Amino acid sequence: MLTRILALETSCDETAAAIVQDGRIILSNTVASQVDLHAQFGGVFPEVASRQHIRAIYPIVDSALKQAHLDLSAIDAIAVTRGPGLPGSLVVGVNAAKGLALASGLPLVGVNHLEGHIYSAWCHWPPVQSSDTLPDLAPEPQFPLLALIVSGGHTELVLIQDHLTYQRLGATLDDAAGEAFDKVARLIGLSYPGGPAIQKAAEQGSATAFAFPRAWLEGAYNFSFSGLKTAVLREVRRMQEAGLALPEANLAASFQAAVVEVLVGKTLQAAREFQAAGILAAGGVSANRALREALLAQSEFPVYIPPLALCTDNAAMIAAAGYQRFVAGYHDSLDMDILPNWPLSEV
Ligand code: KG4
Ligand code: ZN
Repeated sequence: MLTRILALETSCDETAAAIVQDGRIILSNTVASQVDLHAQFGGVFPEVASRQHIRAIYPIVDSALKQAHLDLSAIDAIAVTRGPGLPGSLVVGVNAAKGLALASGLPLVGVNHLEGHIYSAWCHWPPVQSSDTLPDLAPEPQFPLLALIVSGGHTELVLIQDHLTYQRLGATLDDAAGEAFDKVARLIGLSYPGGPAIQKAAEQGSATAFAFPRAWLEGAYNFSFSGLKTAVLREVRRMQEAGLALPEANLAASFQAAVVEVLVGKTLQAAREFQAAGILAAGGVSANRALREALLAQSEFPVYIPPLALCTDNAAMIAAAGYQRFVAGYHDSLDMDILPNWPLSEV
């Protein structure tokens, strides 16, 4: 028996819906990005985000069903991101999912957004055109798995002993890695979102032009990026006061190298300590080419990184995580509430 999950994701600035079969095979994956809308503010503007989710959510669900050539009768459960995320954004997806569950009689499954990022690594890419022609699937990540989740809102190292069993080893004490990319991009005059802009600028620069600090925080698996951000700010001010043009490419490359070195170093250290069977990197920053290359080059463990399209927010990952919860017997009631600060380790 096939199990198909329809999932909705509205935790931040992407309105997304997807249908995933048996936790791995994407039948459709639709995302309406609000990036252009928020670029004028240099970051996500919560009220604008929730209003845009309201406009986009039902058309996005419709197109996910159409793209998969399915209607709700072919679906087994409705999954939705319950948190963490922006309250006004989460509530739009959760209410829409409840409406769909109520109308169809299908079970409702609340999913943690970070859990979704983890399960993006289980998804096959690209989406299949017909659910009858199944692709050859890559081997699944093996447990114990060491996951580095790096996004605009989170930087966490998580030990996963088995499906749905998460132990948080460490997290950022200040800025998330993606947030640091976005803030530093603004400091050096690059566009929003900062991650892709820094990656592009860094390709023309030298990673050793500036000796930016690495916060190793010995003895803990936590991260800190605020000192690095301040160091970039100090250099930028110094050059501006001296009337010098900013060497954007060198600043970007040196900053990116400092972030990547710490992320990769700590992830490998944790994987060794906990004798992981593999390493998984997920979340928007895992789209970063320098990070992907460094992990692949330095890791003695198998490395799982989702395809680029599944690194940033999407609903296929929520469907894949929702599948694991559904087959494990988790259901939520129609009075399920959003959990804007839901920690992964308490899922
Ligand atoms: O996972 P995501 O789409 O949303 C959150 O859950 O936060 O992550 C968005 C973050 C942004 O901070 C963006 O700048 C960063 O991911 N990002 C990147 C790259 N692509 C996106 N950071 C570094 N390099 C990239 N190529
Ligand atoms: Zn995310």
